[in-house]
Amino acid sequence: MPAVAKKAPAAQALRTELTLAKAMAENSPINIILADRDLRITYLNPSSVRTLKTIEHLLPVKVDQIVGQSVDVFHKNPQHQRRLLSDPKSLPHRAVIAVGNEKLDLLVSALLSDTGEYLGPMVTWEVVTKKLELEQTNADATSMFNALSRSQAVIEFTIDGTIVNANENFLNATGYTLEEIRGQHHGMFCEPALRSSPEYKQFWQTLGRGEYQAGEFKRVAKGGREIWIHASYNPILDLNGKVYKVVKYASDITAQKLKAADYAGQISAIGKSQAVIEFTPEGTILSANDNFTAAVGYKLDEIRGQHHSMFCEPA
Ligand code: HEM
Repeated sequence: MPAVAKKAPAAQALRTELTLAKAMAENSPINIILADRDLRITYLNPSSVRTLKTIEHLLPVKVDQIVGQSVDVFHKNPQHQRRLLSDPKSLPHRAVIAVGNEKLDLLVSALLSDTGEYLGPMVTWEVVTKKLELEQTNADATSMFNALSRSQAVIEFTIDGTIVNANENFLNATGYTLEEIRGQHHGMFCEPALRSSPEYKQFWQTLGRGEYQAGEFKRVAKGGREIWIHASYNPILDLNGKVYKVVKYASDITAQKLKAADYAGQISAIGKSQAVIEFTPEGTILSANDNFTAAVGYKLDEIRGQHHSMFCEPA
């Protein structure tokens, strides 16, 4: 009697432990499958049943008939799995496997008794098809962003225009360090008149509504140096479709702009000192400047639309 009285609390404790373990597996959101040492499936938790139902059409047996089956029915070359699963020292083992067009991530662990005896494998697993696709999409987006970032000046703002980050190209183009601009407002790159204009306020409001803006912009770099950029300001949306930041991609076009301004200046200088007349490819007069009309004694209206030959001898 005293022996039984001693055992009772231990058996009770074991029962409680088992009940707890079962309840954990039954309520776990993780998929759990157990097999015995002969690799016969002994248990699917409810989460496993639910997930297996979603891929039932890809399985060799119906989900309700899995308990009691050998794991071999699922494996192309069962000897491979048997070798791996026969020795608990090779566990845990992790693998991503293909079942039809789905990808499953599984972790096989050894279930050991109190005395260290190998009782069989336990598989925790999930369908990771979408997760892997998303990871691939993210990796694509990251490498595209990195490629863009190598060739473009990139700067990130909060939706009110506060600078959060900028890349090397941006810092080189403006002559600032990141510390000098982080936390400042985008307005620091604008002339004071623009900064305080209603258009400028509207510019940020439009971005805040999710509409992107692109074009050529005149900006002010460090020390008041004038720069020209070809830029797009892109509102970035969170998962709920709400704008949470603005990313600007820009190319420094100051050199082209200055060259173009230089050409325009040169052309107008030529026009001031020379007689200039323009023709169609056939020789019809399109326009002429004051120097030309003064030299030939015609008004522009008298020659426009005529042919160049009007200035030549008939012969
Ligand atoms: C307790 C149950 C199970 C155990 C212990 C187990 C174990 C394993 C192991 C160790 C691998 C080898 C991974 C590698 O090569 O790295 C594997 C592969 C694989 N398992 Fe299982 N598995 C079990 C149940 C299932 C079930 C229910 C399915 C069906 C959805 C399944 C389908 C597969 C497939 C398709 C492979 C890929 C290689 C092959 O076809 O042989 N397994 N499994």
